[in-house]
Amino acid sequence: MYMEKVRLGFACVLTCCFMACTQSPGSTDKKLETNVENLLAQMTLEEKIGQMNQISPWGEPTQIAESVRKGEVGSILNVVDPVALNALQQVAVEESRLKIPLIIGRDVIHGFKTIFPIPLGQAASFNPQLVEDGARIAAIEASSMGVHWTFAPMIDIARDPRWGRIAESLGEDSYLTSVLGTAMIRGFQGKDLSDPTSIAACPKHFVGYGAAEGGRDYASTFIPERVLRNVYLPPFEASAKEGAATFMTSFNDNDGVPSTGNRFILEQVLRKEWGFDGFVVSDWASVAEMISHGFCKDGKEAAEKAVNAGVDMEMVSGLYVNHIKELLNEGKVKMETIDNAVRNILRIKFRLGLFDHPYVDTNVPSVLYAREHLQKAKEAAIESAILLKNENGILPLTDKIRTIAVIGPMADAPHDQLGTWVFDGDKNYTRTPLKTLQEEYGDRIRILYAPGTAYTRDKQTSGIPAAVAIARQADIVLAFVGEEAILSGEAHSLANLNLQGAQSELIASVARTGTPVVTVVMAGRPLTIEQDAAVSQAVLYNFHPGTMGGPAIADLLFGKAVPSGKLPVTFPRTVGQIPVYYSHNNTGRPYQGNETLLDGIEPEAGQTSLGNTSFYLDAGNYPLYPFGYGLSYTTFEYGNLSVSSDRMKPSDELTVTIEVTNTGKYDATEVAQLYVQDCFGSVTRPVKELKRFTRIPLKAGEKKVVTFTLPVEELAFYNIDMKKMVEPGDFNLWVGPNSREGLQTSFVVE
Ligand code: NOJ
Repeated sequence: MYMEKVRLGFACVLTCCFMACTQSPGSTDKKLETNVENLLAQMTLEEKIGQMNQISPWGEPTQIAESVRKGEVGSILNVVDPVALNALQQVAVEESRLKIPLIIGRDVIHGFKTIFPIPLGQAASFNPQLVEDGARIAAIEASSMGVHWTFAPMIDIARDPRWGRIAESLGEDSYLTSVLGTAMIRGFQGKDLSDPTSIAACPKHFVGYGAAEGGRDYASTFIPERVLRNVYLPPFEASAKEGAATFMTSFNDNDGVPSTGNRFILEQVLRKEWGFDGFVVSDWASVAEMISHGFCKDGKEAAEKAVNAGVDMEMVSGLYVNHIKELLNEGKVKMETIDNAVRNILRIKFRLGLFDHPYVDTNVPSVLYAREHLQKAKEAAIESAILLKNENGILPLTDKIRTIAVIGPMADAPHDQLGTWVFDGDKNYTRTPLKTLQEEYGDRIRILYAPGTAYTRDKQTSGIPAAVAIARQADIVLAFVGEEAILSGEAHSLANLNLQGAQSELIASVARTGTPVVTVVMAGRPLTIEQDAAVSQAVLYNFHPGTMGGPAIADLLFGKAVPSGKLPVTFPRTVGQIPVYYSHNNTGRPYQGNETLLDGIEPEAGQTSLGNTSFYLDAGNYPLYPFGYGLSYTTFEYGNLSVSSDRMKPSDELTVTIEVTNTGKYDATEVAQLYVQDCFGSVTRPVKELKRFTRIPLKAGEKKVVTFTLPVEELAFYNIDMKKMVEPGDFNLWVGPNSREGLQTSFVVE
């Protein structure tokens, strides 16, 4: 039955002379452009506007089908039932006048059914291949259910952990985000967009959304053009070069201009400077929200500003459908603008092969939760975990351990360990730490369980005595704490980043028993855990680890796997330090690190007695843990750093070598990081910028020489004249285990 539909679809397309069926994957653009033009030439204005309209299901399925039949809809999001989707697609490709297939969108952010660690966790792996593999698996699963298009990767630079959407980001660094974001795009889009297992990527949110004032979601941003170009735009530029099929505009207004009506970013930067030829979709109702912003007086003006700025498809607010015709008649929108928007959309539909294979095959065996998908999700969770503290090498646990006290609300929280943006994952497949420990170690080790609090926000302390009681009987306490999934993600900003509810009290209470405490955090953001870390012998931090979090954590705790994750974002000691990120400028009075803090100040001290540097009297400036930080069960030594030449030309390539030795007892992987500082510029430059990183597997005792190549042109930045160039001068370079430590050398660019 299904194959009949496919054949029928072919026949229709052929008789309509689109030539699409003769398209082979990778066909020349010229042929594709001819297909686009042929189709465009046959379209009525209503059909064009229909292509620019994305809907989320509303009303009766028959009403939606009728709209599709009339050519009023170009895309649908949030339908994941393959049978329903095939039925709608059948209406589009067999019953609508021009038989243009629908493109089906869905937020597939960190897995479809098999849930991988949240993107911030994946970023901690510093492993582009793993990130690509995760996105590939997400695409295979999502496409098997009829999804053609995901709204990912989210590549907003996120330097404020109060912002709940930091969970979806790849962290604070522009280079790391560029490398991992493009890896995700490769994974989603596969080798060829027309492969049925490929889904179109949608880098978002264009642009600056992560800089929301005060970390409050949707808040305004004030990013000057130079910072925009040096920090926020590079991951998007890399994504456009990688061939991302679509872009999504962001909700924020930057310096007074909402992105959805921002001609500068959409027309000048994206189209003219980067040559992007895919299509731009608004965020959810962000066209209409330009009225609340106070940027447009009504829906008509919002449609005008969005379409003229370069938003090709409108997500859900329906203002294009309602107003574009009138705007054309009034001469406020040109036909050419509409035609270009439709061209962009059709181009991607052709590239996706939707005219050739509009339907999802429902007769093939399910790929959801395939064994190899779960295995990869476990690998990702292992590589995403960051060991922040390990006093006296208490981890990994040895076979001397006879009794373990498992406490904390995240020990057995199958829904919450999946994290934010899980629309399709099923918590019944989640493997929690408690269940895994019981299954894998329960026959050898006595595992006692008393959660202490019911969920992370729970303020009740009545469960704490039971947790203390089992701590007294145990050789070690494993305290699973953190955040429920609902505490991070869209519209979930926080002003206080301490552990919620009675969790800190729980940890402190069990620590007072004298039994060593290993704190395992599962959260959507960096939390201010200084007090909790202080009373714990070890801290293993997991950004929500997904379906296979339990087995991954169990392997790490027992040394079957060795932690290798590094922080993709700085951990503040206290909320008041925010924004705190490694790549800041130096200021005229840089913090020295030896300043007198509050408790050291004499009563009635004179005004100038403390020196005059830029710092907080009560917290200093150093974070709790710096960007790039993460321990291992082994130790690494860096030695013999050298650069190919200490005098370079902008056209040269710098070769940097360093020896890294595993000086401990465990085979392990180290993430070596290369940072550069441009010491003086026509504008002030950051104290350090990550330029390269690599994962180095090393057996115990093994030494490797690691080589990085860095074209000097990658040191270019937007200078005082807003020109991207390498400015001659002095540079410092470090290679090391994180953004604070490492060996240093220097070179000059002539
Ligand atoms: C709003 C979010 O900002 C965006 O990231 C998401 O893709 C859309 N909603 C669609 O769900």
